[in-house]
Amino acid sequence: MYTQAMDVMAREAGGKPQPVKSAETLAREAAFEARIDAGDFIEAKDWMPDHYRKTLVRQISQHAHSEIVGMLPEGNWITRAPTLKRKAILLAKVQDEGGHGLYLYAAAETLGTSRDEMTAALLSGKAKYSSIFNYPALTWADIGVIGWLVDGAAIMNQVPLCRCSYAPYARAMIRVCREESFHQRQGYESLLTMMTKGTAQQKAMVQDAVNRWWWPSLMMFGPADKDSPNSEQSIRWGIKRVTNDQLRQKFVDATIPQAEILGVTVPDPDLKWNEVRQSYDFGVIDWAEFWRVVGGEGPCNRERLAARNKAWDDGAWVRDAALAHARKQASKQDAA
Ligand code: 3HC
Repeated sequence: MYTQAMDVMAREAGGKPQPVKSAETLAREAAFEARIDAGDFIEAKDWMPDHYRKTLVRQISQHAHSEIVGMLPEGNWITRAPTLKRKAILLAKVQDEGGHGLYLYAAAETLGTSRDEMTAALLSGKAKYSSIFNYPALTWADIGVIGWLVDGAAIMNQVPLCRCSYAPYARAMIRVCREESFHQRQGYESLLTMMTKGTAQQKAMVQDAVNRWWWPSLMMFGPADKDSPNSEQSIRWGIKRVTNDQLRQKFVDATIPQAEILGVTVPDPDLKWNEVRQSYDFGVIDWAEFWRVVGGEGPCNRERLAARNKAWDDGAWVRDAALAHARKQASKQDAA
């Protein structure tokens, strides 16, 4: 049966005819598929098809890049937080995101890719990271909305990943999700404070932020299932447990009641409760905008990449000093 996944693999092979597989490889693939069907979790030392490994390196490294780049829009506001409490909370959140990046790069390294390779892919613009971080955080209300919507969407997408068939990724996700819940709650609480105790201007600032972040947050879940070249195989292999569209719908259904409690509206005139589906119908996503931002033409793509490249260059002396120290320690041990 010719599947979309074979299409992806053929495309990756540049359309060249695939080498004939040995009986041993075919037997290993069959055993691997049987493990996946049995609900097994795959460890780094286990045999896995090259395409499974490549898919995980792609997804986990891009997830890690998203965490690191995601520190930038919020980091901009640490010095401008309105109170010491908000500053302390935001500091903790941004530090958490750095830690999430670390767990995820470490999980990707178990698949044989190096940190330097992944960093080079990000800095060159070759690797993707979540489109959402290519939008500017214009006001303090954006920080609350990022916590509420962006981290809320991240949790929706990451909870199923705690059951990903690749065990190191699943384990990293369990810890990440605990911290994401704090991220989402602090954002929502900040908005609730502004919407219940704030001035008219502060309430307008919150609504303006919701208007700018709502649709990009829905785009975080990826293209529609029918346009997702990776989903079929990722679902087959238990990397994805729920599809892009299913998670997006779950996020909308969970978030609209929260918006009502906040007293904000989402910028979607087509949003309405569907009694039959017991779910919200919502408007059409601007996929041209999504692919434009994914393709590097979003409002902040260049700025984000420049910031990551500057951080890499500025950090060269730290890397050199750490390597020099490690070499010195190693030569001391050799001499002992
Ligand atoms: N931004 C950028 N690229 C995206 C994207 C997005 N929002 N959604 C999809 N894409 C890319 C995919 O990477 C893929 O390109 P590639 O093959 O070159 O990698 C292409 O669009 C087609 O999309 P698919 O749906 O076929 O790709 P996937 O099966 O990989 O699904 C995904 C996309 C749902 C994002 C999946 O990769 C995933 O679940 N990743 C792990 C979670 C993650 O990365 N979340 C990002 C946010 S992290 C975060 O928010 C941090 C928090 O602390 C704030």
